[in-house]
Amino acid sequence: QTAEVGVIGMAVMGSNLARNMAHKGFRVAVYNRTASRTDEVMAEHGDEGTFLPFHDLAGFVASLERPRRIVMMVKAGRGTDAVIKEITPLLQPGDVLVDGGNAYFGDTRRREEEIRPTGIHYVGTGISGGEVGALEGPSIMPGGSPESYEAIGPVLEKISAQVDGEPCCAWMGTDGAGHFVKMVHNGIEYADMQFIGEAHALLRAAGLTNAEAGDVFESWNHGDLDSYLVEITSRVLRAKDPRDPATDLLDAIRDEAGMKGTGTWTVQTALELGVDVSTISEAVFARSVSSALPLRTVGQQTLEGPDRTISVDDRQAFIDDVRDALWSAKVVAYAQGLDEIRTAAVEYDWEVDMGQVASIWRDGCIIRARLLQRIKDEYAAGDLTTLLEAPSVKAELARCQQAWRRVVARAVEAGVPVPGFSSALGYYDQVRAPRLNAALTQGLRDLFGAHTYRRVDDEGSWHVNWSGDGREVRAD
Ligand code: 6PG
Repeated sequence: QTAEVGVIGMAVMGSNLARNMAHKGFRVAVYNRTASRTDEVMAEHGDEGTFLPFHDLAGFVASLERPRRIVMMVKAGRGTDAVIKEITPLLQPGDVLVDGGNAYFGDTRRREEEIRPTGIHYVGTGISGGEVGALEGPSIMPGGSPESYEAIGPVLEKISAQVDGEPCCAWMGTDGAGHFVKMVHNGIEYADMQFIGEAHALLRAAGLTNAEAGDVFESWNHGDLDSYLVEITSRVLRAKDPRDPATDLLDAIRDEAGMKGTGTWTVQTALELGVDVSTISEAVFARSVSSALPLRTVGQQTLEGPDRTISVDDRQAFIDDVRDALWSAKVVAYAQGLDEIRTAAVEYDWEVDMGQVASIWRDGCIIRARLLQRIKDEYAAGDLTTLLEAPSVKAELARCQQAWRRVVARAVEAGVPVPGFSSALGYYDQVRAPRLNAALTQGLRDLFGAHTYRRVDDEGSWHVNWSGDGREVRAD
């Protein structure tokens, strides 16, 4: 018997993806470097479909129908390079090798370029949705040659989440495009979680208990904020400490956020591309600050400020304001993330369809949200320079912006840190401002370093002879 698709790496994500494929009717070859792990997975799940387990890579490769379709689910980094080195001599032109890990898109571009001369297709693929998504239907973001998508697309589309019969999987562009889109997905995930954290902190500052805040998040999940992250927030907020059911689990968790790097890459890459993703960088830095314990200890002991309580006369009105601020900030994070993808597509010559990106994020992934249907529809209606200009988005922002300002102002007055909300609002006000302080920056640069400036009423670059006769001279 031959296999239609193969999966390398039987850790949780890999085994769940292989099971998903088998559940959808594919004959799946599986291989793991440590053979006992393959045996364990087969002992537990081998009867869920047609699996062909292998203890040797050559046997695994030989079992696959041509062109071979192989999905690697190994630890990103050196693990991926090791598998590539071992497997490529066993493959033939036309075969498709998929990297389904959270690889850095630059590594994917390098690997694709190295492998291309062999005729083997290298497909860097973002897969989102965690363990459950891998098993039940993730959001899948493949990048590679168009021919490779013809071979692997049908498998990936079948195992992905579906919305109204449409798969949450689509070709994102060549080489690193898929991993780039996944990277930005994670950056938006960071920003979204930071905003949610700020919203929770504000509700607590206004006197709500964690459980009450959990109820608020649940009610938000029935409206425009309907999303996976808002839904699971209400679960975490309501959870009791399993060690002491009289207290909240949240209060027992240290307030030190971890991260594995994709958010940092999103920000580093945006800096290189010159795109403002300030909401994402605030989210990354907020995690850094949370874990900088010596800094926080000194700060707590020495710095003055208000006591982080917000007195509200009308609790519901305040909750509604926080909701509007959360929705607005979230839209800004999407706008910034999509801007980064759009800019990268030009830089790297990818044909990324922004509506399709929104479309495949509608389900299966961590940032799945009702808002993504709206974003998909808006991009389908016409190309956008920024998501913020989309008719239904700008109208809703116009409705929300006063509440958003009130929330940021109350937070600042009370000393509740809201770096995400205020940075999102700062971005909104920057992009709508008719004139920015950049004119002064240019004037200063010209004075101290003769860096020149451009005029509003003339072409060319100009410089003032600041230390001499004060006359303006053409500088180009
Ligand atoms: C997903 C997630 C997943 C994971 C990230 C972020 O789409 O399924 O984004 O990839 O949560 O690795 O993890 P950190 O918060 O640890 O950086």
